[in-house]
Amino acid sequence: MDSDTWLADTRRSYDTVADSYHEVVRDMLAQTPYERAALDLFAAQVRKLGGGPVVEVGCGPGRIAGYLHGSGIEVSGLDLSPAMIEIAHREHPDLRFEVGSMTDLDLPDASLAGVVAWYSLIHVPDAEIPSVLARFRQALRPSAPLLVAFHAGNETTLKTEGYGGHPMHVHVHRRLPEQVAESLEQAGFTVEATMRLRSAESRDGAIVFARRAD
Ligand SMILES: C[S@@+](CC[C@H](N)C(=O)[O-])C[C@H]1O[C@@H](n2cnc3c(N)ncnc32)[C@H](O)[C@@H]1O
Repeated sequence: MDSDTWLADTRRSYDTVADSYHEVVRDMLAQTPYERAALDLFAAQVRKLGGGPVVEVGCGPGRIAGYLHGSGIEVSGLDLSPAMIEIAHREHPDLRFEVGSMTDLDLPDASLAGVVAWYSLIHVPDAEIPSVLARFRQALRPSAPLLVAFHAGNETTLKTEGYGGHPMHVHVHRRLPEQVAESLEQAGFTVEATMRLRSAESRDGAIVFARRAD
């Protein structure tokens, strides 16, 4: 599948479900203590290196960015879906959110103190993972942390409806943590820890803690 097709399908799908997705996830962090702990640890890592700008790529309605902001992190969000970004602006008026694709990240080199990809790389096809991770690496300062959350597994499924039965057309790429770790190492990251979890967020989820290798 070419890049334009999956990006257009994903954008349209999340535009369609934006309101209902927001309803489903808006209070989810309150029920997911391990996810909160992972975000707290990430925030501590950012602070330890002196703080600075953090981007959540694929931020949806902005709940993860909002949580990090509550921990004192200088965070902004990027998402493919204009409807998601509209909700993010409404819910978190103090934060900066932009419509855009992580496949086309346009940020100065070594400008970021951290990147979070929270259940968003799940939509990026395998063939595009190396270039997306290379862009993250290029935008990050040396040693800056990258936090990746995803559905674990080893199959790709086509989701044709969701969040209250709305039509969608998105591929969900489940990946094994070892596979994600290998892609990260190949892209110039050091992988420091992996969590495998079962929660309201994912029946089989994983969170990988990495940082730019130099
Ligand atoms: C499952 S939602 C997760 C949203 C948010 N991180 C959260 O946890 O609530 C996946 C999000 O990734 C976004 N997304 C998918 N592909 C993207 C891309 N190439 N660039 C930016 N955002 C993307 C979708 O529009 C959607 O909002």
